[in-house]
Amino acid sequence: MQRQSETYRPIQSLESKVLMNDLLKSPERFRTHLERYAASVIVTVTYGRRVEDVDTDIVVQRNGESMDRLTQVNIPGKYAVERYPALKYVPSIFAPWKAQVLKQRQKDVQLYTDLMDEVKERLAKGALPTCFAKHLLEEQNSLGMPDLELAYAAGSPFGAGVETSAGTLASFLLACVKFGPQFIPKAQNELDRVIGSGRLPTFEDMPRLPYIKAVAAETLRWRPVAVLGGTPHASTADDVYKGMFIPKGSTIIAPLWSIHLNESDFPDPDKFQPERFIEDREYPGTFGHSAFGWGRRICPGMHLGTASVELNIARILWAFEVGPAKDASGKDIDVDIFAFSDGFNSSPLPFPCSMIPRSAKHAKVIEHEFQEALESLKTYTAVTNKIS
Ligand code: HEM
Repeated sequence: MQRQSETYRPIQSLESKVLMNDLLKSPERFRTHLERYAASVIVTVTYGRRVEDVDTDIVVQRNGESMDRLTQVNIPGKYAVERYPALKYVPSIFAPWKAQVLKQRQKDVQLYTDLMDEVKERLAKGALPTCFAKHLLEEQNSLGMPDLELAYAAGSPFGAGVETSAGTLASFLLACVKFGPQFIPKAQNELDRVIGSGRLPTFEDMPRLPYIKAVAAETLRWRPVAVLGGTPHASTADDVYKGMFIPKGSTIIAPLWSIHLNESDFPDPDKFQPERFIEDREYPGTFGHSAFGWGRRICPGMHLGTASVELNIARILWAFEVGPAKDASGKDIDVDIFAFSDGFNSSPLPFPCSMIPRSAKHAKVIEHEFQEALESLKTYTAVTNKIS
């Protein structure tokens, strides 16, 4: 819900200040910094503890392994059992695919139970800040959810919210490198007029930054991370579409990449043009794009995700000149806007990008606001935990 997601804004804003400082200190590692930001927001919102280093954080590592396993099996049509459900009764000894999936389940159960046990321990000691897991525990009776279901529910934001948020921000940087001169000056004019140079943009500024909001919407449209629109849906009633009969219960896969790159809705679709979201345009739904999916399964993290994308785009463009990196002879290095990873989620393959502070004053503001943020983030400092 919009209102609930707003309670997480302080965490997003503080972590975003850490991100800006990371980008200032080692811009060439921008991808790692984006991942740390996204992971830390999700783990803090969910379990009330920060992620300071994605390469060593045990929760990130264990969750990452679980997600890798999930994305290997979550490919529509990969297993014959999807077409012939009776195959699920074949004993695992004769069905290696089943044994593999059951083994994964065991590992996931262990991980999500360990995480919840740790949360309970901290709750009992009075050392757990407000977070989604705490809320679930307090509401467990009224939700009527058994322990394992609760543990899985708490784990779901990690699987769905990290790669999507970080991947979208990486696509934004790719757009800056390729199309920067066409939209960055307009965005920076707006930021300079509304914010000035003495502080970072905040959530409260967003209603006065329509062009920045359009840049964020165009990023989500231009390169949707969930290329297949997320997990397949099913039709709830018989339907006829363009003369084709679709029986109730059919598996429906919405190819989001093709939908967002459809000429008739988005002319010149591979061009990055925030103006599409300023002009009046007919498109079903509330966002003017479908990056968060549809219907009952629409992304429950859409408000949190939009907030992360908008705020960080505003701060990056406020703080940095973003553009192509230079080769040894000082020439711009071109990037391939089609070089994306394969899989359930898709994000840009590594690419070079230059990020230089717009002025010494902008750099000072980042350093100052970062120091203040660290102080406030102490409540969420990672605890030594039992997860191994
Ligand atoms: C830019 C960021 C994000 C994008 C582009 C995105 C996109 C999507 C899409 C396309 C779906 C599939 C929707 C459908 O089936 O119709 C989805 C599902 C989901 N998302 Fe997000 N998401 C983002 C951020 C987040 C965040 C931050 C969270 C958690 C806090 C989250 C949690 C979820 C969950 C739990 C689902 C599964 C819902 C279900 O199947 O019922 N997402 N997301």
